Amino acid sequence: MPGRQGPKLLSIVGFLGAIALAVAICAYPLVRRLAGRLERLQAGVEQLGAGDLAARVKIEGKDEVARLAESFNRAAERIEDLVGSHKLLLANASHELRTPLSRIRLGVEFLKESADPRRRGELERDIAELDQLIDEILLSSRLEAVKGLDQREEVDLLALAAEEGARYEQCSVAGELVVVLGDRALLRRMTRNLIENAERHGAPPIEVAIGREGSHAAITVSDHGAGVAASERERVFSPFFRIQGDHQSSGTGLGLTLVRQIARQHGGDAFWVGTPSRPSRIQVLLPAERQDVE
Ligand SMILES: Nc1ncnc2c1ncn2[C@@H]1O[C@H](COP(=O)(O)OP(=O)(O)OP(=O)(O)O)[C@@H](O)[C@H]1O
Ligand SMILES: [Mg+2]
Repeated sequence: MPGRQGPKLLSIVGFLGAIALAVAICAYPLVRRLAGRLERLQAGVEQLGAGDLAARVKIEGKDEVARLAESFNRAAERIEDLVGSHKLLLANASHELRTPLSRIRLGVEFLKESADPRRRGELERDIAELDQLIDEILLSSRLEAVKGLDQREEVDLLALAAEEGARYEQCSVAGELVVVLGDRALLRRMTRNLIENAERHGAPPIEVAIGREGSHAAITVSDHGAGVAASERERVFSPFFRIQGDHQSSGTGLGLTLVRQIARQHGGDAFWVGTPSRPSRIQVLLPAERQDVE
C-alpha cells in the first residue's frame, strides 16, 4: 500500500541519520586528536624549514603518524649534525689559516729589513704549511660534497704500500696481493697519511700489512709508540683534532679525517684497532675487487 511507504522511509532515514550522528560523535575525539597531531607535525616541519635546526616533534602513539614523526626527527637530527660539522670545519679552518698567515706577514716585514736566510727558510716553511692546509681543506670538502669517485681503476694495494713505505726509513711492508677498484691518487694519499702519522707521532719501526678480512682488503699500519688513549680513538678522525701535548706535531689534524673520508668514498672505513700489546695501530677496510689476480 503506497500510503504506508512514506513513514517507513522516513523512519529508515531517521535511523540511518541517528547512526551517522552516533558515529560522528564517537569519531570526533579521534579525528580531533589525529588532526591535532598532524598539525603539530606540520608546525615542526615549518619550524625546521624556517631555520630552527633544533626543531623536533613529540612522538605520540604507535601508528603511521608516530612513524612519520620519528622519521622527521631522524632527518632533522641528521641535518643539524651536518650543518653543525660544516660550521665547525669553517670556524676551525679560518682559525688555522690565521696562524701561518700572521707568521708570514711578520716574516715579510723582517725580510724587508734583512734578507736573513734563516728567516727566508721559516717563511718558506710557513708558506708550505699554508699550502698543505688549503690543499687538505679543499680535498676534504670535495670528498664531503662529491659522492662516488671521479677515477676508478684497479689498484694493487701491496705495490702501492711498498712504494709509499720505501719513502720512509724503518718502515716495512708485507702481505698479500690485494686489488681494489678505486682512485689511485687518493689511496696513495691515504696510505701516506697513515705512515707519516706513525713516523711523526709514533715510534719506529713502522709495519704496514696488506691482507684480507672477508670480502675486504685490509691495510693495517702499526708502529711501536703508545698510540692514543681509548677515549681519543674515535676523535682522532675528527677534523683539526690533535692530541693535547703532542708537541712533535706541526700538522693540521686533517690527515686522519682524510683517511676516513677516502676509505668511505671507496665504500670502506678506517678504525683505530690498537690492542694492549700493540696500541698504535690503524686499519682501513676497503671492498676488495676480486680474490686473485693472475
Ligand atoms: N700513529 C700515531 N701514534 C700516536 N698518535 C697518533 C698517531 N696517528 C695519529 N695520532 C694522533 O692523532 C692526531 C690526528 O692525526 P691527523 O693525521 O689527523 O693530524 P696530524 O698528523 O696532527 O696533522 P696532518 O693534518 O698534517 O696529518 C695527531 O695529531 C696525533 O696526536
Ligand atoms: Mg697526520
